[in-house]
Amino acid sequence: TVMNQLLGMHQVEKEISQYFGIKRCIVVAGNSDNQEKVLYEFGDILTDSLDLLLPDGDNIVAVMGGTTMALTAEHMGTLETEKRHILFVPARGGIGEAMTVQANSVSAVMASRTGGHHRALYVPEQLSLETYNSLLQEPSIQEVLTLIEQSNCVVHSIGRALHMAARRKMSDEEMVMLKQNNAVAESFGYFFDEEGEVVYKIPRIGLQLKDVQKIPNVVAIAGGKTKAKAIRAYMKNAPKQTWLITDEAAANEILKGV
Ligand code: G3H
Repeated sequence: TVMNQLLGMHQVEKEISQYFGIKRCIVVAGNSDNQEKVLYEFGDILTDSLDLLLPDGDNIVAVMGGTTMALTAEHMGTLETEKRHILFVPARGGIGEAMTVQANSVSAVMASRTGGHHRALYVPEQLSLETYNSLLQEPSIQEVLTLIEQSNCVVHSIGRALHMAARRKMSDEEMVMLKQNNAVAESFGYFFDEEGEVVYKIPRIGLQLKDVQKIPNVVAIAGGKTKAKAIRAYMKNAPKQTWLITDEAAANEILKGV
């Protein structure tokens, strides 16, 4: 029955949050690998979650990019009220994604869907380290970096390491190094092995992993059977305040290995 399914799902959510030692896990029915509607539901659940998590007053939500984030953003609903205001900012700049799935685009869509505001971080994707460092001195960039530092919430996805490295056109040397270090997961531009240890980091501005630990509200969104291994690896050392929004296919696969 539907009731049994709901109770079953609830049990799975509890098992996963206990296993990773995180605050909460929410599981959507289905498999986002081949069902786009699951991603739309992530949008509803993210809206409900932020509605519970974000207090009245001014909030700054830092967001990452990727296809999950982009599709989730498209299906969010109103969060802005007379008392609660939300400013969306990209969490990190220039990690090499296509325009529509960049953190800048995701934060703009989230602002328009929720009724909030957004600020962009204008840092080109491919830059020499020298140009990059001098760009960091720009007041307009400094201003957005300060906002990112003040964020009270971060929303991000989790990807498969080699898949993400290839999509972001990382060099052959970097690919070899990721393989040698058994990288399986990627999030925030950091790469993790199966134990959730960082094995590589793309040097970019914005939120660093150690900053995420201190942010009171952290929401990770990732689903699909193909991502189970990556999700498990990243979540092993995820900040304890994390809420994980995932799907049934990933959840069942994660628990198989427990
Ligand atoms: O860091 C993780 C990636 O942004 C995930 O990308 O949602 O396109 O799989 P994806």
